[in-house]
Amino acid sequence: METKTITVCKENPAKELLQMGVELIKKGELVAFPTETVYGLGANGLDANAIRKIFEAKERPADNPLILHVAHLQDVFYLAEPVSLQAQVLMEAFWPGPLTLVLPKRKHIPQEVTAGLDTVAIRMPNHPVALTLIKEGKVPLAAPSANRSGRPSPTTAQHVLQDLNGRIPLIIDGGATGVGLESTVLDCSGKNPVILRPGGVTKEQLEEVIGPVMLDSGLHTPDGVPKAPGMKYTHYAPDAKVLLIDGSNKAEIIRRLTEQYHQQGKRVGLLLTTETWRELGNLTTAYQKNLGSLHDLAVIAQQIYHEFRQAERNQVDIILTETYPEEGLGTALMNRLLKSAGYEVVRT
Ligand code: TXA
Ligand code: MG
Repeated sequence: METKTITVCKENPAKELLQMGVELIKKGELVAFPTETVYGLGANGLDANAIRKIFEAKERPADNPLILHVAHLQDVFYLAEPVSLQAQVLMEAFWPGPLTLVLPKRKHIPQEVTAGLDTVAIRMPNHPVALTLIKEGKVPLAAPSANRSGRPSPTTAQHVLQDLNGRIPLIIDGGATGVGLESTVLDCSGKNPVILRPGGVTKEQLEEVIGPVMLDSGLHTPDGVPKAPGMKYTHYAPDAKVLLIDGSNKAEIIRRLTEQYHQQGKRVGLLLTTETWRELGNLTTAYQKNLGSLHDLAVIAQQIYHEFRQAERNQVDIILTETYPEEGLGTALMNRLLKSAGYEVVRT
């Protein structure tokens, strides 16, 4: 299959340009499209056959359910029941935006979407291209991140092409995504809201609106059993080994490890903050990047998946990158970094 790319203006995508995407969705085919978090691989969320194609193209495990993307608040009531008052307050506060709500599903949702669970995940993306595609297609779009399963999520159309070239008919290129990490998945199907995957909307932001929110306890350890099926897989990982550097001596550890790896003939990639680079000074390696200040996690989040892929394209064997305080966006960033590092943290 040939994979076509159409480039559109992010702010104001011409409907005629998106028409090909709309037709493909209506025919039960797949279309990759930008959202504010990462690129999604979309299909008609009410068509079981179309959804099977998503799992095939991504090589995604069948037990990992998908998010349905909607363009109007009221569409939720067609997909989920009951929709608690608390969930409605959250929709009003954070949609369109990087918050996915897990709610009791209605019977007509194909079980391919929910992987047999009795809940369904729903979000309204904050991106004109995604919203137009959903509105014009007149169906909710089932869309996981448009990467091959286990790879870092795509934040540009080029990343999608790297992973899915020849497997899907169309990529809509709307430029680089804004948030750079996936949405927050919040379980609103039980008595108390629980974050199943930290993401673009922070725990602190949620708590300002609805009070105390828990973080799924299965998320913290390599052998925990997370409630979001997708969180149990090795994930977000580039082809190189990732090591996370922690503690007050980061620069010293990085210098020592780099020397060791160079002695073993290995190629090293360094993805570090301005603050750590300042301490480290010059160090020649196969690939390196200054991710910006430790105090601007949004900028780091935006680049991290792209930089994983850049390091990989420079054929590094090892990526050394650092830990962040687990607050605000740092919680989501650390969750992804720990998973891509297989929970390997170096402290001394
Ligand atoms: O930002 C995002 O959320 C992106 C863009 C494209 O919208 N999508 C995305 O989808 O990251 P995906 O499929 O890569 O991740 C969805 C996560 C998985 O961890 C999955 O297990 C969880 O949401 N999930 C989906 N439905 C669920 C449900 N009913 N109960 C619990 N977890 C669910
Ligand atoms: Mg994903």
